[in-house]
Amino acid sequence: MCGIVAAVSSRDILPVLIEGLKRLEYRGYDSAGVATLTRGSPVRRVRAVGKVAALQAAISADPFVGTIGIAHTRWATHGVPSERNAHPHVSQDGIALVHNGIIENHDALRAELLQSGYVFTSETDTEVIAHRIHQHLLVTRDLLAAVQLTVRELHGAYALAVLTEAEPDTLVVARSGCPVVIGLSDGENFVASDVSALLPVTKQFMYLDEGDVAAVHKNSVVIYDSAGKPVLRKTHQSALSAESAEKGDYAHYMLKEIHEQPRAIAQTLEERVVGARLLEAAFGPGAIEMLQRTEAVQIVACGTSWHAGSVARYFIEQVCRLPCWIDIASEFRYRDPVVPKNTLFVTISQSGETADTLAALRLAKSAGYLASLAICNVPESSLVRESDLVMLTRAGPEIGVASTKAFTTQLAALNMLVIALGKQRGAIDQTRERHLVERLIEIPRLVEETLKLEPVIRELAKRFVDKRHALFLGRGALSPIAMEGALKLKEITYIHAEAYAAGELKHGPLALVDADMPVVTVAPNNDLLEKLKSNLQEVRARGGELYVFADPESGIVESDGVTVIQMPKHVSYFQAPIVYTIPLQLLAYHVAVMRDTDVDQPRNLAKSVTVE
Ligand code: M6R
Repeated sequence: MCGIVAAVSSRDILPVLIEGLKRLEYRGYDSAGVATLTRGSPVRRVRAVGKVAALQAAISADPFVGTIGIAHTRWATHGVPSERNAHPHVSQDGIALVHNGIIENHDALRAELLQSGYVFTSETDTEVIAHRIHQHLLVTRDLLAAVQLTVRELHGAYALAVLTEAEPDTLVVARSGCPVVIGLSDGENFVASDVSALLPVTKQFMYLDEGDVAAVHKNSVVIYDSAGKPVLRKTHQSALSAESAEKGDYAHYMLKEIHEQPRAIAQTLEERVVGARLLEAAFGPGAIEMLQRTEAVQIVACGTSWHAGSVARYFIEQVCRLPCWIDIASEFRYRDPVVPKNTLFVTISQSGETADTLAALRLAKSAGYLASLAICNVPESSLVRESDLVMLTRAGPEIGVASTKAFTTQLAALNMLVIALGKQRGAIDQTRERHLVERLIEIPRLVEETLKLEPVIRELAKRFVDKRHALFLGRGALSPIAMEGALKLKEITYIHAEAYAAGELKHGPLALVDADMPVVTVAPNNDLLEKLKSNLQEVRARGGELYVFADPESGIVESDGVTVIQMPKHVSYFQAPIVYTIPLQLLAYHVAVMRDTDVDQPRNLAKSVTVE
């Protein structure tokens, strides 16, 4: 969590820092701050509680400029959201620093620094870094060396950007466990947590590796690895436009991202399915051999990405006839897994920077898995770089904290994995491959069609606005979709929502059902439909209000207390999880708008969970 931006130039860089912070606000938005410097003047620092707009207002009240600067948008971990806990944090002699991550040994460092006479003004783990750099700087007289010595003493995760009045043309940045990208330009250079912050000023990027520390000047960038050796890192040209991370005419990023799904899914399939064939090489060099050797699959992810994996489990078992396990990364990382021979380890993540998922991958590397495969939306993310095989979802930047297009593109990528595995394991012949690929290619059109239900769903949303609770039901591969619907609703509307595999209802949750409990159900026409209908009867018999997203041929009819929303016809087993997700996203979105919540930046959350 937290976003950092920094810049060094010969022009005033404050506008670049503020624009960058706005673009990183999805990473954290409980306070923000900036510190700038111009040769010959002291560091200017302004911090404010709340979003970047509050920081802007504070700056407008007393404007200033700077040719070098650092900025931060915070998601609180250590210490409440307050001005004194907001970054940048400072130490003596004009040192200022911004930090993303968590320093686990901050208590011990703080005790030592207190003994040495340093005074702390915040409850953060970050302030110890600023003082420690100052302590080393007194000896080294060189900011880069002071930061290199300091980071060796830190346990935990960090992305850092540091400046000091003693070296008014130098930014020092460091990375371990949290992302840092350096944006390159003519006569000026930039630093940020991700490329989207810098797209208005550059398309040329360099990514720091784990343990790297870099000295960034306006005309040069010198990177050192964890051993202190100068290293060259590749320069990448980003294909993203500045507008790709803007909301255009849409009221919210989430709505824009919901509507981008047909295109995002089509792009994810592009060049990977050719004719009616899937190209397994799309999973990276060596993929075919790994897939041939795979005898079991372990999937690990968090939140919405975990829901995507939970859907895939059904398909991997049914279509590929392989054992498959799915775990939440924060649990998996502390287990001591018993790994059956030739198990493929699959991680799923929109950001590729989720701390728990990364930790699980690192654990898996020493646990004896066959290989690791990442399904991820960010090409230069840590997850992608640390995995053996990769399938990139091509959703484009997802800014809304509630994941939408990242989820459905993950499902599309996982469907491709199912076909590839099934083929290589001999569970799918050419005819079946053709059939499944044809179903995949139809998905963007079906999503397009489903989006046309928006006016109906907007009306429906009115019935949820005053509710305090909601239940979501599904069966089989659609039960994780019910979970995703419940997560979307609770995340952005703050209505308490729970999801159950419908057969589980009578084992407890049915006790909650009364006339005040809306029960949302996803009911495609599949082999579990009749079972699901019985579960719906159980709800109706207790007076529960049913909202059923159903196949027109499901035979579920509207009646008192039963609202049926007709979905597109003939959605197949392989397509249904993606298609039935769409109305649930729209429902959550419109209820949130009616409840006037902060749709794109819901309270207490952040987009990218880079801390444990
Ligand atoms: O970037 P990731 O996919 O690894 O993120 C995992 C979760 O934090 C994320 O899916 C979260 O649950 C979403 N905000 C839910 O909409």
